[in-house]
This record gives sequence, C-alpha cells and structure tokens, in this order.
Amino acid sequence: MLVLGIESSCDETAAAVVRNGEEVLSNVVSSQVAIHAKYGGVVPELASREHLRKIEPVVNEACARAQVNISDVDGVAVTEGPGLIGSLLVGVVYGQALARALAKPLAGVNHLEGHIHAVLLESKMGRLAGRVAEDAPLPAVTLVVSGGHTSLFLVEEMRPSADLRSVVFNYKRLGQTRDDAAGEAFDKVAKLLALGYPGGPVIDQLARYGDAQAVDFGRIKMKGNPLDFSFSGVKTAVLYRVRGTPLALEAEERRTWRRTRDHVSNDELREHCSQATLDLIASFQSAVVHDLVERTLAAAETARVDTVFVSGGVACNSLLRARFLDTSRTQGIRALFPSPGLCTDNAAMIASAGYYKLKAGQLADGTLTAHAAFPLGEKQDSEQQGLGARD
Ligand code: KG4
Ligand code: ZN
Repeated sequence: MLVLGIESSCDETAAAVVRNGEEVLSNVVSSQVAIHAKYGGVVPELASREHLRKIEPVVNEACARAQVNISDVDGVAVTEGPGLIGSLLVGVVYGQALARALAKPLAGVNHLEGHIHAVLLESKMGRLAGRVAEDAPLPAVTLVVSGGHTSLFLVEEMRPSADLRSVVFNYKRLGQTRDDAAGEAFDKVAKLLALGYPGGPVIDQLARYGDAQAVDFGRIKMKGNPLDFSFSGVKTAVLYRVRGTPLALEAEERRTWRRTRDHVSNDELREHCSQATLDLIASFQSAVVHDLVERTLAAAETARVDTVFVSGGVACNSLLRARFLDTSRTQGIRALFPSPGLCTDNAAMIASAGYYKLKAGQLADGTLTAHAAFPLGEKQDSEQQGLGARD
C-alpha cells in the first residue's frame, strides 16, 4: 500500500511517499527557517502563507522522487493537530481535497503519533536494509521532545481483529510539560544570547566548548506527577545570570555583529562567545538533558518496560543521545532514536502512522478538520498507576 503523507503543523511543509508503512520512497521537507530566523521564532501568519505557496510543489516533488504518479497512491495521511491552526489547515484542506479528487481513503494523524512512529519506521527501515534483525519492540515508553512538545507516552500495539495483519496502537500519556517545551527553552535561551534560530542545534554545537559543571542549576523539582516536566525555571535562571551582567553586553554586541552578516558559521559564533557564555550554555543543556533522561527512565521503570523511544527535534541533541545510551545501558534499558531527518518534522512519519489507520479502516470522513490542541492518549494518574512520588 502506497501512502502519501502530508505534514504542515508548524514551519515545515512536508510530503512523503511510504510503501507499507516501512519503505520510504521519498521524504521532502521545505523548511521555513530562513523566513522565521530574523524574528527568533515562528511567526504563524508567515508560516501559513508559506505553506500555501509550498504545499503543491512539495507534494509533486515527493511523487516525482518516489517515481510514482499521484493517482498511484492508495491513500492519503495528513497531520490534523496539534500545531498552528493556520498551518495545519493548509495541509488538512489540501489532503482532503486531494483524497476526494483521487477517490482514495484519507486518514488524519496526530502529530505526536507521527513522532512516535518515526522510531518504529527507523527500525523497519533498518530491518529492510539488513542493519537490524527485528522491529523496535513494543510496549515502549516514548519521549516526544521538540519545540512544541515534551511528553511521555506508553505505547502498545494491539491486533484487534481476526486479521492479524491489521495493527492498532494505543497511547497512554504518562506526563507532559506544564510550561515550556524543551526545544522552546533551547530556542529562547539562544535568542536571549543572540546565538540564532533555531537554538537547539547551535547550543548543541557550542556547548562542547563549555564546562557543563560551571553553573549548578540544581535538579528540576515537580510537585504532583513526577513524570511531568517544567523548563521555564531553568530558562529564567539563565535570564537572571545574564541580565545586567557583562554577558548581556556581550550578547548585544553579538546581535549587532550578526546583523552585518548573511551567514554565520558555528566556528565564527564560537569566536564571538566568551568562555563564561559557553559555560552557561553547556550547563543549561546539561540540566535539561539530565532531567529528560531521568524522567524518561523513571517512566520506563514504573511502566515496567525495557525499551524507550526518543523522538522529536530535540532527539537530535548529541548530549541527549549519549546520555540516554550510557545511562540506559547501565540500567538494562534499550534507547532507540530515529535518524536526525526523521526526528525533526517530516511527512514520512505521518505516512507511516497513517498506513496503520488506513489498513485498520480508521478513515477520516468529510468532516476532518485541523485542531490546534489535540491531546494524544488518555491521562494516566500516577498514583493509580502505582508510580511512586520522586522528589
Ligand atoms: O520536531 P521539530 O522539528 O518541530 C516541532 O514539532 O517542534 O523540533 C524543532 C525543535 C526546535 O526547538 C529546535 O531548537 C530543536 O527541535 N532542536 C534541537 C536540536 N535540533 C533541533 N534541540 C537540541 N539539540 C539539537 N541538536
Ligand atoms: Zn514535531
């Protein structure tokens, strides 16, 4: 079954053609980073206008690269939420119109479900290529960590009918951020320090030159559900360490210098950062990564699973990957990540998640619409689940 996936929930217009939920024939992403970079964050109005311009060329490019005619696809899968409403609407309306014109079935996919499927897709691609023997095992705890989300889910698969080929997935939400997403905190700290947008990749690179022990941000404490997250405190702690200090003047100088340049390499940026700034960045990154790893492994322990999936843009972070691989090894837990191109927003993950829905007959009717808020999985009460409170 050939599925055309469409993703437009934030600032990437993406389309992909995936066969049987596992073979990526094309995966086209048109990024709007250059448009939003000068504002230090995504401007919703500009994002939806750019999606309108790009959606058709991107879908055509995905079909061309997959060497399929659009009428050859067996179904269409589109992100219906959560995300920016104007951005989502472009993909939903386009996908719906296309499915109707082609008389093909349509599935709506939750963006977070897409990020979870990126891990399953990566392992299926690895199996097809002979790199791994088996698909990623389920049940697994998944950390979805991006610019818009930081959530933990328990993911299970079920075979609901006599037809054992049809699989449906069940998601239980174990925890989520109460304020900023982790990627948002990276982006805001980078904006404060005039390091550019998006902040995650640049902080990841520069933090290598700083001392992660230099600033002690302490552990992030949560009252209530110990599997929830909160990153606004550490972000504000960075602000207090900068405001009214020489680091603020240094950031202003960097901002002025950056305005004179079209492109700034990470090496040039590093030369314009004092050791104190590099130390602050490294300490901030370490505090966020430590918290993400700790809570995810705690979730795996309490849910009694030995596999964790980590997905979303922040899953590209090199320290996060290294810490997960180290810590999980010592605790006997397997940590699986998609390759960087499947971590950040893409449509292959949407096509792959949509494939199972189309196969199980979970089709969108004519009323499919975009949802800015679109929770995935029911909330699990940690006490009911027997999850002990942590400090
Ligand atoms: O998944 P994604 O493409 O879009 C959302 O659904 O939000 O994630 C984008 C986010 C941005 O906040 C970006 O700064 C962050 O992922 N990011 C990173 C890294 N690469 C991207 N954060 C930390 N380290 C990275 N290497
Ligand atoms: Zn995303």
